Amino acid sequence: MIKKDTPIKFEIVHEKIKESGLEVVGHGTIREIVKIVNKIETETKQKFIRMEMGVPGLAPPEIGINAEIAALKSGVASKYPMIEGVTVLKKEISRFIKSFLDIDVDKEGCMPTVGSMQGSMAAFLVANRTDHNKKGTLFIDPGFPVQKQQCHVLGHEYETFDVYDYRGDKLKDKLESFLKKGTVSSILYSNPNNPAWICFTDEELQIIGELANKYDIIVIEDLAYFGMDFRKDYSRPGVEPFQPTVAKYTDNYIFLISSSKAFSYAGQRVGTIAVSDQLFKRRYPELKRYYSTDGFGYSMIYGALYALSSGVTHSAQYGLAAMLKAASDGEFNFIDSVKIYGDRAKIMKKLFTDNGFNIVYDMDMDVPIADGFYFTFSYPGMSGVELLENLLYYGISAIALDITGSKRSEGLRACVSQTSENQFKDLESRLKKFNEDFGE
Ligand SMILES: Cc1ncc(COP(=O)(O)O)c(C=O)c1O
Repeated sequence: MIKKDTPIKFEIVHEKIKESGLEVVGHGTIREIVKIVNKIETETKQKFIRMEMGVPGLAPPEIGINAEIAALKSGVASKYPMIEGVTVLKKEISRFIKSFLDIDVDKEGCMPTVGSMQGSMAAFLVANRTDHNKKGTLFIDPGFPVQKQQCHVLGHEYETFDVYDYRGDKLKDKLESFLKKGTVSSILYSNPNNPAWICFTDEELQIIGELANKYDIIVIEDLAYFGMDFRKDYSRPGVEPFQPTVAKYTDNYIFLISSSKAFSYAGQRVGTIAVSDQLFKRRYPELKRYYSTDGFGYSMIYGALYALSSGVTHSAQYGLAAMLKAASDGEFNFIDSVKIYGDRAKIMKKLFTDNGFNIVYDMDMDVPIADGFYFTFSYPGMSGVELLENLLYYGISAIALDITGSKRSEGLRACVSQTSENQFKDLESRLKKFNEDFGE
């Protein structure tokens, strides 16, 4: 039971939770939790340790901003951009993929999207409609909840499993138990993984790729945290090691490369989708049920992306092109600029574990999980939803793993990006008080 002398005024937190209308606040979506915490902060004038939303906590790169300003000054704002993207960006996406994944994708198959969110929507709209016997997406979870919401609003079916107990060669049988039914159109996972920060090994990516070939399934590889497994140095263009990818093992792939986290560019809502050369050219007669042609790439551009937003903000495309170019030229080490998240995670995880909390997804195969953009935690004897609600009274916000497809319902996901060093003291004292109030 919560004591009333909590760090954030008990009555106000209680009232705002009630006002939210959510039956169980712990089941709230990311944006719902954001709204409640905003209201509590405004009323109490106290700052939370905000760990609920994956917002970049760093300034956007000057290279991108300057290129956008130049584009705007040249008058692009009055012109519709081509749906498939401006030529310079298409070229730089293809070059970036070669530089940091060591994979060749023709610029024709490289398109800008309104964030990776639009990329996954477009991918579902085409990949899940190639064969009427196949019904939708298999999510290798835990994962990013909104992508399931996208499938849901599209009326696509989806299945999911928590991969934590099926790492390494165990992944093959588990995946096959779904794929052999013949109803899966696409497989989606993020790597590094949001929320667990698991990083798939080449062996696992090979399993996924080979099964995609065997069952003719399209893999949607979500690289929202491109290169951010800081244990390895993926930052040097054209030099090993490269960010691991399923594309080494199958031609049935689509990459989603977000600029939001790796380039701290979330506000401009510009990301990229890249379709493998083979898939781009492939013909699926059943696409004609929804699109004017049977061509996969053509349907993606003039069917899905056209219908969704008819292109991406013109200036943002130039901003992204400039950042990708600088990265491939070796002039902008985009990974170095976000390494600070790993340093923060290390300190924050220790503050949690020193105060009675546990890390939920604590191992990555046989080594401790890396320090990155997210970590997961629990408190003994409390479910995730209880923990989330209780922590609000202590000025700490997070989201429940429950909503990510995780089997670990005791856990919460913490995002480190918005917690700056000068808040560590507050975090420590609040966790300490929490542990005093709830500990044995
Ligand atoms: C795994 C994953 N995919 C996609 C996205 C969406 O990225 P964008 O901001 O480019 O739409 C996010 C954002 O948090 C994410 O975590």
